[in-house]
Amino acid sequence: MSETPVAEPGPEGPGFVVRAATAAEWATVRGARLAMLADPSAAFGHGPDAEAGLPEQHWRDVAAAWAEADQTLQVAEGSDGTWLGVMGCRVQGEGPELTWVWVVPAHRGPGGVTDALLTAVEHWAQPRGDALSLKVFTDVGRAVAAYRRRGFTAVGDPVPAREPGRADWVMRKPLR
Ligand SMILES: CC(C)(COP(=O)(O)OP(=O)(O)OC[C@H]1O[C@@H](n2cnc3c(N)ncnc32)[C@H](O)[C@@H]1OP(=O)(O)O)[C@@H](O)C(=O)NCCC(=O)NCCS
Repeated sequence: MSETPVAEPGPEGPGFVVRAATAAEWATVRGARLAMLADPSAAFGHGPDAEAGLPEQHWRDVAAAWAEADQTLQVAEGSDGTWLGVMGCRVQGEGPELTWVWVVPAHRGPGGVTDALLTAVEHWAQPRGDALSLKVFTDVGRAVAAYRRRGFTAVGDPVPAREPGRADWVMRKPLR
């Protein structure tokens, strides 16, 4: 399996570009997905074991779906080709929904990969809906704070999450 590496935590590189993942990049999409599931933030409800054994065809299908017109997986690609973060967006019943949000730890913080990815997603979502929404576990404090500082506000009270004992904030950011 040829796979572009997902960056390990390390020193910040000189630069990156943000672009949409292609269907052909299924192996790198797999790597990014397993890395986000392994993140100690426990932001995704299950660890990588639940998906690590899924067959190649699953990842080909996932990458192909991300490349369809009603969804996008934006990736930040470092100058050496490694992926420094991803953010996905799908148009659901209520409009564009942000998902698969993950940035390599060494590239977190304001003014970098996180902002650039969100800007790209907002640009993609803007003609597709009035607002960008997301769900985030209430106990993933860094993500909640990161969304708040970037213009998202909670809609209502926390709602029970799919994972027992946890709750989600539904958050929303106007796009126009
Ligand atoms: C979510 C994520 C993309 C946010 O990007 P980021 O670059 O880390 O965000 P920032 O550093 O700009 O902002 C983080 C904020 O959380 C704060 N913070 C840091 N650790 C925190 C903690 N343990 N609890 C609460 N707030 C925390 C920071 O002070 C900052 O807030 P401020 O700007 O008001 O000072 C990134 O942290 C990530 O990939 N996390 C792991 C995966 C994840 O949680 N995904 C979200 C799934 S919904």
